[in-house]
Formats: sequence, structure tokens, C-alpha cells
Amino acid sequence: MWPLRRGCVLRWLGPRSCRRTTVLVAFLWFALWALLNSLLFMHRTIFSDFCTDDRSKRILQRLCGEYQQGILTGDLCEDLCVNRMLEYKRCLYYEKGKKVMEAKWHGMPVVLKSKLENFSSYEGFGPLEYQDASELSSMDVVFYATLEIKNSLGLEVRNATGPRLWSQELHQRSQPYSRAEIASLWALLQQEEYIFFKALQDFSQHVVKVLGSCGHFYAVEHLVAGHAWNQNLFSLEDLLGPPDEVVDGWVGGHGHKAERDMVNRIALSFLDMVSHFENDFSHHLHLCDIKPENFAIRKDLTVVAIDVDMAFFEPKMQDILEQNCTHDDDCNFFDCVSKCDLKRNKCGSKRVNSNLQVICDKIFRRWFSPTLLGAGAELPLQVELQHAVQECVETASGEDTERSGAIWRRLLSVLTQLLEDGSAQKTGRGDTQGHPHSALNF
Ligand SMILES: Nc1ncnc2c1ncn2[C@@H]1O[C@H](COP(=O)(O)OP(=O)(O)OP(=O)(O)O)[C@@H](O)[C@H]1O
Ligand SMILES: *[C@@H]1O[C@H](CO)[C@@H](O)[C@H](O)[C@H]1NC(C)=O
Ligand SMILES: *[C@@H]1O[C@H](CO)[C@@H](O)[C@H](O)[C@H]1NC(C)=O
Ligand SMILES: *[C@@H]1O[C@H](CO)[C@@H](O)[C@H](O)[C@H]1NC(C)=O
Repeated sequence: MWPLRRGCVLRWLGPRSCRRTTVLVAFLWFALWALLNSLLFMHRTIFSDFCTDDRSKRILQRLCGEYQQGILTGDLCEDLCVNRMLEYKRCLYYEKGKKVMEAKWHGMPVVLKSKLENFSSYEGFGPLEYQDASELSSMDVVFYATLEIKNSLGLEVRNATGPRLWSQELHQRSQPYSRAEIASLWALLQQEEYIFFKALQDFSQHVVKVLGSCGHFYAVEHLVAGHAWNQNLFSLEDLLGPPDEVVDGWVGGHGHKAERDMVNRIALSFLDMVSHFENDFSHHLHLCDIKPENFAIRKDLTVVAIDVDMAFFEPKMQDILEQNCTHDDDCNFFDCVSKCDLKRNKCGSKRVNSNLQVICDKIFRRWFSPTLLGAGAELPLQVELQHAVQECVETASGEDTERSGAIWRRLLSVLTQLLEDGSAQKTGRGDTQGHPHSALNF
């Protein structure tokens, strides 16, 4: 009885059609199985060289091998190679040798990065090739390191600015550097991104924190990175933490409102970042590749730049923009644009758009468009916000600091009001429900 019923699921179609259907189903089943298998095989062969656990683990094994041989070192090597307190979790990104992995460090998620997978692919430290490490004074090392930092950032490394603290860190050494230390430092200094993060560490909450390094790999805090396909650009669920941390009623009843509230807070942090990058360093910092993927959000909802390949301080920006041109289009460098001076056939060295303008265009417009806002879109403040964003997108505010300041303040004011309105309503309700939003630690 049982095998028969199992053999013929479509019994009601009649005995003959039943047999034919069974054969057909079996055939389709087999075809699907074969297709999936071949796809899986293709996927494995194509991507075996890319972001796989196997490959990542082999890279880390090589790193630890070289640590044990005394070729490289770093403050994380002991945890990675001896105590196993730094554990590989998964591969996030691999392309042209650039490796990004997720790991756990003392139970905390971190991201391990290196521009090239092999230590030997980095250039050696020149002076080490013709003299012994013990003959090199720390002063020499610091001198070369400072030169490298200065070149990379395109800045004068003045006493008053960023890299000073870092060079002091290098300075505070009584014994000379070992060969492994110098080699590791040198590999790290060949990664512009590392220099950038490290130099701005103590000055900016909008730059990802570097936690340590081993050889050519360095660890940064793990954050919630943006994705263009996400409706809110950043996964708000990940920021809220696991569901059991969320008090009942927070996600349920006030879900949409809570999300809008978080988006507004993140937008405020974007504004803070804009003014910080404009005013708080000795030179204006330009972001020429603005997209959700290049930013991430901390648990406290601060916006952090995680990909700074296209971030330049003013002097370097001017060098990049000053090109020969016959047309304004020749003067576009990703999100940084200037105008073509047709008399000289040269692009202006001053950027004509601004970080704020591009953020309004590529991020705020996605958040604050009528379609995404849904039911709340006609509220007066939301309409005001849409207008403010539109004005921001349309105004080439690069050089006109007064104009761009006004736009910035208008956005700040609307967003602040929106948040105040939201929290006034919520505390009213929250009192009866036992503060449902305390889970967010605002
Ligand atoms: N601190 C971080 N926290 C969480 N995820 C991160 C972090 N840093 C990087 N990632 C993830 O790893 C991916 C790749 O990192 P990264 O941005 O450094 O590479 P990339 O610089 O974008 O490469 P490319 O320069 O070719 O665009 C990112 O898209 C992001 O999803
Ligand atoms: C890194 O080193 C390994 C082993 O020495 C080698 O097989 C691999 O091709 C190297 N990768 C690169 C990008 O040089
Ligand atoms: C930087 O500071 C050091 C000591 O703090 C001083 O000797 C040096 O002259 C300063 N350099 C500049 C360029 O001001
Ligand atoms: C730009 O133009 C000048 C003179 O018109 C020329 O000498 C120079 O080589 C050009 N530079 C580039 C990069 O084309």
C-alpha cells in the first residue's frame, strides 16, 4: 500500500497519466539535480581562487608560519598564532590580492585586512638590505616612516596635525627595532588605507578604529557596512542587535517609526561627518567615492568611513583635479568635479561640488524620497526635508561656503525637529509601556 501511494502522488489524474507524470517528475528531478551540481562545480572551480575559507585559512597559516620564523611580528600575532584568541570566521572580500576577513578577537567581531595576501609581495625596507637592524636607530625608522606617511597623505607632517601622535608612538622606544618589527611596519606603511586610518585614529570618530596588526594584516572594528540593495542602505536590524535584546513592542508596534528614527539619527551623523571633514583638519578632506558600501555604522549610530581609497586632503585633491581639458567632462574625478578653464585648457584645481552635495544626492535622496517614506511623506516636516535635500543636491556648493553652510544648517534643523517630534510622541507612549526604546541606548 505504502510504496504504491508514494510512487504515485498524482493518483487522481488516472492510472496512465499517473505513470507518465511520475516518469516526467523523476526526469525533471534528475535534470534539476544535474543542473545544480554542474552549477556548483562551476562555481567552485571559478571561485576557488577567491573568497573561500580554505584559501583564507591558508593565508593565515602562512602568516603564522612567518611569525614563528621571526620574519614578521605585531601585537596581534600572539593571539592569532599562539593563544587562538583571534579566530578566523569568514571571508568578506577578495580581489586582486586584497583580502578582507571577518574574525573574532576575544569574542568580539573584528575585520582583518591586507592590500596583498602575501607578506613577501610587499617591498622590503630599503636600508635593511645593506645594513643590520641593530645598526638602524629608531630615529631612522621614524624618519622614513614619517616620510612615507607624508607622501601617502599628501600632507606636510606638521607637529600639530594627525601623524604626530603616531610618530610619538614610534618614538617611545628605548631599544632598537628588530628586523621583524621594521619589516612589518614597512608592509603596513605600503597600505595607504592603513596609514589613513591610523593617522586619523585619535582625531576622528568618523574613521574606523584600528585595533592592532600582525605582519601585513591589520584588524579594524567590525561595523554594519552599507549595501545599495538594502532598502534603508544599512541593515537596521543588525544595528538593533539580536531580537531577544529588543524589548517587546519596539519592533512590532513602532517598527516603521523606530526605523525612521534611526535613519534620521544616522543622517545627522552624516552631517556631523561632513562638517568634521571640512573643518577639523589642517586641510579639507574630500571623499570622491560616496556610496553606501564605503560607509558603515557603529552601534551608537555614528557614521564611519571604511573605504578611503578615494579620500584626499586638499593638496592632493588639487593635484588630481588639475588636468588638461577641452570640456568640463574632462574634469570629473569620480564624485569630485571641477570646471574646465577653456582659456588655459586646464581644469580648475578647486573642487566645485562638495561632500555634502554628493551625500545628499547618493544617500539622503534615497532615504527621504516620497516613495520610501510611504504614508508619512506628506507630513509638513517630511516635505520640508525633501525640499532641503533637493536644494542640497542642486546647489554646486563647493566654493560658496556661505551657501553650503546654509544648506547644511537647514538639513540639521529639519532632522533635529523630526527627531524631537518623534521622541515626544514616543516618551508619551513609552511611559505606559515601560520604555520600549531603552534597548537602543540613545
Ligand atoms: N569594518 C568593517 N566592518 C564590516 N564590514 C566591513 C568592514 N570593512 C570592510 N567590510 C566589508 O568588506 C567589504 C570590502 O572591504 P573594503 O571596502 O575595504 O574593500 P574595497 O576597498 O571596497 O575594495 P575596492 O577598493 O575594490 O572597492 C566591504 O564592502 C564591506 O562589506
Ligand atoms: C602567495 O604565496 C603562495 C605560496 O608561497 C603562492 O602560491 C601564491 O601564488 C602567492 N600569491 C600571490 C598573489 O603572490
Ligand atoms: C616639532 O616638535 C619637536 C619637539 O617637540 C621640535 O624639536 C621640532 O622642531 C618641531 N618641528 C616643527 C616643524 O615645528
Ligand atoms: C597638458 O598640456 C601641456 C601643454 O598644453 C602639455 O605640455 C602636457 O604634456 C599635457 N599633459 C598631459 C598629461 O597631457
